[in-house]
Amino acid sequence: MRIDQETIDRIKQAAEIADVIGDYVSLKKKGANLSACCPFHGEKTPSFSVSPAKGIYKCFGCGKAGDSVRFIMDIEGIGYGEALRHLAKKYGIEIQETKLTDEQLLAQNERESLLIALNYANSFYQKQLTQSDEGRAIGYSYFKERGFSDKTIKTFELGYSLESWDAFTKDALKNGYNLDILEKAGLSLRRTEGGDKVFDRFRNRVIFPIHNVSGKTIAFGARILKADKNQAKYLNSPETEVYHKSNVLYGIYQAKNAIRSKDVCYLVEGYTDVISLHQAGIENVVASSGTSLTLEQIRLISRFTQNVTVLYDGDAAGIKASLRGMDMILEEGLNVKLVVFPEGDDPDSYVRKIGSEAFTAHISEHATDFITFKAELFLQEAGKDPFKRAELIKDMVESISKIPDSIKRQVFFQKTAALMQMDEAILIAESNKITLERGKQREKDHQRESNRQRLQQDLPNNVVLQNHQAPPPIDNNGWMSFSEDDMGGVQEFYTSPQPVTPVNQPTNNTPLVPKQTAVKSYLALQEQECIRLLINHGTKEIDPDVAPGITLMQYVLGEIDGIMFSTPIYQEILNLCREHFLRGRVLDISFFVGHPNSNIQQETINLVSEQHSVSESWLKRHEIFVPTELDRLAEMAFTNILRLKKAVNEEQLKDLLAQIGQTKDANEQTRLLGLFMQAKEIEKQIAKELGNVVVR
Ligand code: CTP
Ligand code: MN
Repeated sequence: MRIDQETIDRIKQAAEIADVIGDYVSLKKKGANLSACCPFHGEKTPSFSVSPAKGIYKCFGCGKAGDSVRFIMDIEGIGYGEALRHLAKKYGIEIQETKLTDEQLLAQNERESLLIALNYANSFYQKQLTQSDEGRAIGYSYFKERGFSDKTIKTFELGYSLESWDAFTKDALKNGYNLDILEKAGLSLRRTEGGDKVFDRFRNRVIFPIHNVSGKTIAFGARILKADKNQAKYLNSPETEVYHKSNVLYGIYQAKNAIRSKDVCYLVEGYTDVISLHQAGIENVVASSGTSLTLEQIRLISRFTQNVTVLYDGDAAGIKASLRGMDMILEEGLNVKLVVFPEGDDPDSYVRKIGSEAFTAHISEHATDFITFKAELFLQEAGKDPFKRAELIKDMVESISKIPDSIKRQVFFQKTAALMQMDEAILIAESNKITLERGKQREKDHQRESNRQRLQQDLPNNVVLQNHQAPPPIDNNGWMSFSEDDMGGVQEFYTSPQPVTPVNQPTNNTPLVPKQTAVKSYLALQEQECIRLLINHGTKEIDPDVAPGITLMQYVLGEIDGIMFSTPIYQEILNLCREHFLRGRVLDISFFVGHPNSNIQQETINLVSEQHSVSESWLKRHEIFVPTELDRLAEMAFTNILRLKKAVNEEQLKDLLAQIGQTKDANEQTRLLGLFMQAKEIEKQIAKELGNVVVR
């Protein structure tokens, strides 16, 4: 079922760009616009800009641009229809849909199919928890015993999987889900030996859905109910196309607003720690789910706050194992503190024992900055042993010199020196040594990488050399395949060339820095200018005094009738203008910047945002009158058309010359020569009109 135009309009109306993007990254005000570190590519200084007035975003680092719908498509990796559904859900706009729609069945890509199946599984498990006898008797009562309220169960969408081999898989298949997709989503398992058998991955367990930052279900954790030595306590979804364990923090969806407003993120280990603290009113909590912290997880946190407090329930050995993760947090420029809990308690049990007020007090009393914590921990161990102390100094300095901010570094050198009762200068000297070594190492890595790249150039395309470092981000941004009738009755199909994924490179959404295009030809530049004028000013009267009611669109299209643009994207936009104009509609900016074809959208956003405006107050102060584009529309359109024609004519002249050189036939030569003379005449005419002098 297609979403009707009226609903689409309502969704787009509601989906205010800053609010939509705010779900993924904290935006800071910067003049009329908002800015942030780009959520599409790793960066530490913000080059991602959002214009609430225009309803668009653009990253000046990686080139991603679009409107609210495009943002959701790109960041979630889903198609147009699903992105609209996502926004509809967010803004409580009802879309009449009961069963799987045809469109959902023919999901745009596998990723989308997996998300749809996972969402279905989530509701299935939730239903089993409260609506089946077994679920109520076993799963629901287990959660109740753990003290989880109904509200909490709902907030975290907790569920239950029946003690059955295939209850879920059977149900899903009956409802039209494809077994292949269920398998790929990590929900169903298939055994082929001894006849085809399918069964559920999660059986007889309570279910903890894992959400991404916008609330989409991407995986599950499932806890066994009785202690059983032969089975893992938690069974988790495998890595799938939508679930990369290392990129995910459990609870981030439920926590992000609290993290933003409290400006600190508590990091715990387990699902139940997150849930218990949330229920106790401490909502700014996420879990690394028992694995060591990754860079991606830290970057996810840093979209919402620069402060992390690790709530640690391990013993000394466990703490040491997790020090590396905390070093990584420092390295990313975040501030990290640590709170240790009494032996035998984790945040979950502790908050239930002492209550939320005492718990909060415990955190604020015991939170130690990581550097001090590490120094104290190691000092205890080293005692008076001079070798151990030397080792310790090195270790401390290693950590401190990872902090990107030099003022913060300074503070920590002072603190550490005081703690260890030693001269700060020694620490700083040691630090300089490390920095120097790191620089050399980086230089070596760089050398190796450029050698690799040079070698790679000589190899055929399908052979990819192993990269010793993180692979360069790749551009997945093929043309979206799109069939939604969003364009006022015009059905447009864009086929999507399969994105080529080199071996060894993960397909994520990180875009490539746009390829440096060769210098645009004169012709391409004029085509660009023509499209820019059409997009920005197409609806305006070109010269109200001389020709009232004539739009720039009408004028330009009339003048360049019959001309085809050489640049495919401009030709495509021109075609859209022509088609719609024939139907009596003059397209405007909003049509283009909201266009579901990402190439069209990006190109037009570039053309819309490239005009630079001089500050009005500055102009006033200096009493300067600068004619704006609007004052010069007629002149601009006129010269552009002439220049376009000039460029087209030049191409033709070149073409004719080449043909004349190749022709042996005398008659043909004469004919071509005639055409050449004609074109020469046109050139002269245009030059005259442009006020140029032809230099012979
Ligand atoms: N974990 C896991 N697989 C396991 C054990 C643990 O994935 N076999 C992960 C889970 O995310 C779990 C976290 O590690 O939440 C912490 O483990 P643990 O402290 O044992 O679990 P709790 O969340 O405390 O669970 P409970 O209180 O129910 O025992
Ligand atoms: Mn626990």
